[in-house]
Amino acid sequence: MTLKNALFMPFILFLCFYLSACSQDDKKSMAEPNVTDTEIQAGRMLISDNCSGCHMEMEDHTFSRISQIRKTPEGWDMNIARMMIFHGLEISSEDRKALVKFLSDTQGLAPSETLAHRDVLERKHNIIEQGTDPDLASMCARCHTYARVALQRRDKTEWQNLVHMHLGQWASIEYQMLSRERDWRADALGSVAEKLGQMYPLKTAAWDEWQNTEWKDMSGEWRIVGHEDGRGDFNGTMRITTTGNDTYKVEYDLVSPEGTSVTGMGKSIVHSGYEWRGASELQGQKYREIWAASKDGNSMTGRFFQKDHSERGGNIIAWRKSDTKGIMTIVPSSLKAGVETEITINGVDLSGDVSIEGAKVTVKSATADRVTLTATADGTPEGQVKITVGNDVSTLALYTEVDYLKVTPEYGISRVGGGGGVIPKVHAQFEATGYSVGPDGVQGTQDDINLGSVPVTWSVDNYNEAAAAMDDAKYAGEITSSGTFIPAEAGPNKMRKYSTNNAGDLKVIATYTDGDRNLTAEAHLIATVQRWNNPPIM
Ligand code: HEC
Ligand code: HEC
Repeated sequence: MTLKNALFMPFILFLCFYLSACSQDDKKSMAEPNVTDTEIQAGRMLISDNCSGCHMEMEDHTFSRISQIRKTPEGWDMNIARMMIFHGLEISSEDRKALVKFLSDTQGLAPSETLAHRDVLERKHNIIEQGTDPDLASMCARCHTYARVALQRRDKTEWQNLVHMHLGQWASIEYQMLSRERDWRADALGSVAEKLGQMYPLKTAAWDEWQNTEWKDMSGEWRIVGHEDGRGDFNGTMRITTTGNDTYKVEYDLVSPEGTSVTGMGKSIVHSGYEWRGASELQGQKYREIWAASKDGNSMTGRFFQKDHSERGGNIIAWRKSDTKGIMTIVPSSLKAGVETEITINGVDLSGDVSIEGAKVTVKSATADRVTLTATADGTPEGQVKITVGNDVSTLALYTEVDYLKVTPEYGISRVGGGGGVIPKVHAQFEATGYSVGPDGVQGTQDDINLGSVPVTWSVDNYNEAAAAMDDAKYAGEITSSGTFIPAEAGPNKMRKYSTNNAGDLKVIATYTDGDRNLTAEAHLIATVQRWNNPPIM
């Protein structure tokens, strides 16, 4: 149902009743909509109560400036926050949450419309945005991410209104935007608004189709696998139970990367039929979850992170056990020739014979969720080989030696914090991935084999002479054995030249040791000052 239809629905139903023109069959054949009429009435009432002092309600029940835009849940929440900060809106936190839910359900984005920019929604750190339009990026992605723009839908006139808001609110915007090289105001209101309206219009087939797709209840038994950066792979199950209105209770039963059993609880809300926003607690650590359900509602993917350190977390894949079957992950994802290795196959509904191409396999334990085995390979064939459980197939990297390493992110940022201030430190998490040069023996070619995370030792050093002169490596912070760089405290440091703060320009060095062979790889790390404004969509 489109928003317009949704808004007209009660009127049409009333008309049907009044004219007795619609047959009983017509009413019956209408499937239960994702957003019911009662919810629409309640949502409209919320806008009326909280917003209509400034946003006029039209005859067709739309509200000026509100009904002509679609945004993500985070986008709506930031919008309401902006109304509070800029325009003095006062709203209870219950109404704010209910409005974010209502607006995301009726004026949200379809799964395909958020796909290209989920990294930013998931608050991944140290990424370089992909999928950006260069013209728009040079105008609109210098103060905030491109995703903030690309995660909204509106027509040209509404994009122009947004430009006016920018001009009015930030009087220096034209100077900031290199006004000498361009007429920012004219471009923004002209060709840029035009292009934005074409690329990101209010009405799209994707959103119409998504509103007419059945939004599945998430309750059930789920299998979950994931990787926590700097720590390793985990797996387990989630029992999701509905608590009404698209909210859920979650019970986790996991096996940690260290192999211990971890249980915990969480709760979540699903916006727009697929945007899972969860809060959980495991072993005393509070996490947040930003996941997206697949179109059929039978799988979820996304990122989790620590409540107070959004930079620390990892990725998950979850499958609904009643509707899926197959291999989800192989841990570890590579097997070294000649070395007996324990391997875990995680999946749903696994059964049958287990084999690895070119390796001898001994199954140690097998359930429908998980097969644990030991494998020994003689090294031929090298490369991605088949790993099979019954009819389910996946791949495993077979190699003879780790030939080189890569450290990710290649360019990381950490931020000082604490030191009596309110902003916590922002850590930087590094990971080392091993590679084999592959059959051709040449590094950096197509046949190179990604061997997954490899164990390394970590150290930091001054990035260059200027950093050495300031002794950055001594003051800027420390890296842990799991590749987490923890910056030093905020504020001036009397021990440093000019009593400067604990910022620094560093290189991060990973060293992999195999017998008497040492491999190293480096990344660049800027340890810098705090960000004072940390909105959910940077
Ligand atoms: C005190 C007046 C006031 C109240 C109350 C108010 N707004 Fe606004 N709103 C404005 C003004 C002024 C603008 C235009 C300038 C701007 O965008 O900040 C605006 C703009 C907007 C926009 C367009 C922003 C964009 O992305 O271009 C949306 C959407 C919006 N408001 C939603 C709301 C919602 C939802 C509420 C109620 C929860 C609300 N407003 C309450 C004054 C208000
Ligand atoms: C000079 C810096 C700057 C430039 C350039 C800029 N923005 Fe913004 N933009 C901001 C700031 C600041 C905010 C408000 C931040 C907040 O509320 O957290 C914002 C907010 C937004 C929002 C969210 C508004 C809402 O209420 O949902 C959108 C969308 C947006 N900008 C789009 C654009 C587009 C499109 C362009 C290019 C035409 C652009 N921005 C250029 C600084 C800028």
